[in-house]
Amino acid sequence: MQNILVTGASGQLGAEIIEGLLGMGDVSLVVATDIKEPSVSLEAVPFEFLDVMDADRMTELIKNYKITQVYHLAALLSATAEKNIDLARKLNIGSLHHVLNIARDLNLDKVFWPSSIAVFGPDAKKDGTPQNSPCNPTTVYGITKLTGEQWCAYYHRTFGVDVRSIRYPGLIGYKTLPGGGTTDYAVDIYHKAINHEPFTCFLEADSHLPMMYMSDAVKATLDLMQAPADKLTVRTSYNISAMSFSPAEIADSIRKTYPDFEINYAPDYRQKIADSWPNSIDDHTARNDWDWNHSYDLDAMTQDMILNLVKGKV
Ligand code: SER
Repeated sequence: MQNILVTGASGQLGAEIIEGLLGMGDVSLVVATDIKEPSVSLEAVPFEFLDVMDADRMTELIKNYKITQVYHLAALLSATAEKNIDLARKLNIGSLHHVLNIARDLNLDKVFWPSSIAVFGPDAKKDGTPQNSPCNPTTVYGITKLTGEQWCAYYHRTFGVDVRSIRYPGLIGYKTLPGGGTTDYAVDIYHKAINHEPFTCFLEADSHLPMMYMSDAVKATLDLMQAPADKLTVRTSYNISAMSFSPAEIADSIRKTYPDFEINYAPDYRQKIADSWPNSIDDHTARNDWDWNHSYDLDAMTQDMILNLVKGKV
């Protein structure tokens, strides 16, 4: 049975991953940690304040709760990282070192660490970006994620730490709001639509990015963590893919339910970040190694987002 500590539990992914973990047969305890209180109720699990840059406190919690696995989700996302270079470096890479060292020294069973499609920069193939495309990221966030991937591979190779990782695309869910990312518009747009308000997008109409519905992202994460270690051929981070769309295309999808939905465009500094990333991702390595498969395309996601956001309003 596994005792799991989740960092960044109050972020966009935290509550969703915790719910997924609680449904697994081999999980006896999940401990949620963050520097801020969770925005959604995490009643079923203990919550502890943790600044992930504090290695001593992290060690203490891991020892006290007899933790066997860590899901280290705490990070600054792309837009925020661009404005806070030093913090992004300390938080995104420094805290990963604490987790990897603790995993090695306390012999933890497994670690999950999220990477991102942001590891790819303008040198990568734009459409269907392969697993091993040249990366050369041009954003602060991308540099931290690529560096982190290499450290994960090093700790696995050198110390046998079983750390596993996914390059998430933009994640879209109805339970929590994202914060500080370039793909956040694709969540905010649904909140405007169900309130019959127009949406001003900070990206251009035809800016395509790789995206994924939250339930697929949670499934991918739990499936990767369950996969037999000898099946995994990638110890940096796996490309995974579900859909790719532009702001104009998500607006069209929303208009199938709200025909009068209006979108206008006011691109800002985040356009440059988006322009440096792939349009779409090739993920056949993940599909071959651990049977990754997505369920939601754009229209299926739109229907489910609208249904749940409307339900939450009434
Ligand atoms: N969704 C993230 C961001 O926009 C990318 O991994 O920063």
